[in-house]
Amino acid sequence: MTEEALLRVRGLDVTYRRSRLRGGDVQAVRGVDLTVGRGETVGLVGESGSGKSTIGSAVLGLVPASGGVIEFDGADITHGTRAERRLLARRMQVVFQDPYGSMNPAHTVGDTLAEALRYNLGLSSDEIHDRVLRALDDVGLPPGAARRYPGAFSGGQRQRIAIARALVMEPDFIVCDEAVSALDLSVQAQVLNLLARLKQTRGLSYLFISHDLAVVRYLSDTIVVLYAGQVVERGPAARIADAPAHPYTRALLAAAPVPDPVAQRRRQAERRLTGTTTPAAGRVSAGCAFAPRCPFAQETCWTTRPELVERDGVFAACHRHDEIAAGTAEAA
Ligand SMILES: Nc1ncnc2c1ncn2[C@@H]1O[C@H](COP(=O)(O)OP(=O)(O)OP(=O)(O)O)[C@@H](O)[C@H]1O
Ligand SMILES: [Mg+2]
Repeated sequence: MTEEALLRVRGLDVTYRRSRLRGGDVQAVRGVDLTVGRGETVGLVGESGSGKSTIGSAVLGLVPASGGVIEFDGADITHGTRAERRLLARRMQVVFQDPYGSMNPAHTVGDTLAEALRYNLGLSSDEIHDRVLRALDDVGLPPGAARRYPGAFSGGQRQRIAIARALVMEPDFIVCDEAVSALDLSVQAQVLNLLARLKQTRGLSYLFISHDLAVVRYLSDTIVVLYAGQVVERGPAARIADAPAHPYTRALLAAAPVPDPVAQRRRQAERRLTGTTTPAAGRVSAGCAFAPRCPFAQETCWTTRPELVERDGVFAACHRHDEIAAGTAEAA
């Protein structure tokens, strides 16, 4: 019997209502299925505007779902009330890219961490104090950090504080939305290692959102690739990051810098092939959303929407999945 997933998203649609003056409604997410198992990290990757944060926000109840179902620990939370959401906040936390923006610079780190606890749980001040110190210790900050102000810390340390703020609630699930994207590479690696360690010691599950496939691969068990609000590929992290099936994932991979010059040249060649300007750019696709940018697009791709189909454990929404995987696909 398979253990029940912690988070299960089925057929999620999110539409942002906007006046016609501002360009009309935006269908940011369409029919997205996503499952996060207990102790699992699911990486959500895609270029800017692909709908990653919108999915995270819908899961956290920060934007309403216009369709589909979101289940957490077996309970339907799609249209949870404010009170239900407040209860859920104990179990479901978030770490954003710019923690400074969400911290009051006039509050000490200790107060910032304690704030959430005061409002959400009936803990004594001793218990709050203990939890704050434990969370700081878990993210590698000394107890004295509690008495200092956010402005006194570096970007990497502030990201640790943001993680500690999530941890004080003792959640079992954390949405990390571009949580390391603003950091220098070396600091990024430290914070990724910290998140990996916390996953083990605290038994956490993550929905890990990033535009950077390399970062996502480092932490994830499973990778989900989004394009224009839809899942185009999903599978085990190593498979997706090392040998992607979907032409869009290949383009994402080709866009990532790699230290090996030979591999870098190969990818640059592939990027030229999968660039944003194809002869067909400008034509509107009634089928695959990626067709206008895809070097492999055939007539079917323009007319028929590809379903996610499994091949050797990897799901890809591409009419030419088989040929591309077999290396026999020729650019159209
Ligand atoms: N509050 C909003 N109102 C209207 N449209 C929005 C809003 N938030 C996001 N969108 C639109 O929804 C789409 C998805 O945006 P989203 O922020 O989820 O993408 P993303 O993948 O997180 O991008 P990024 O990598 O830049 O963070 C985009 O077209 C965006 O312009
Ligand atoms: Mg985003």
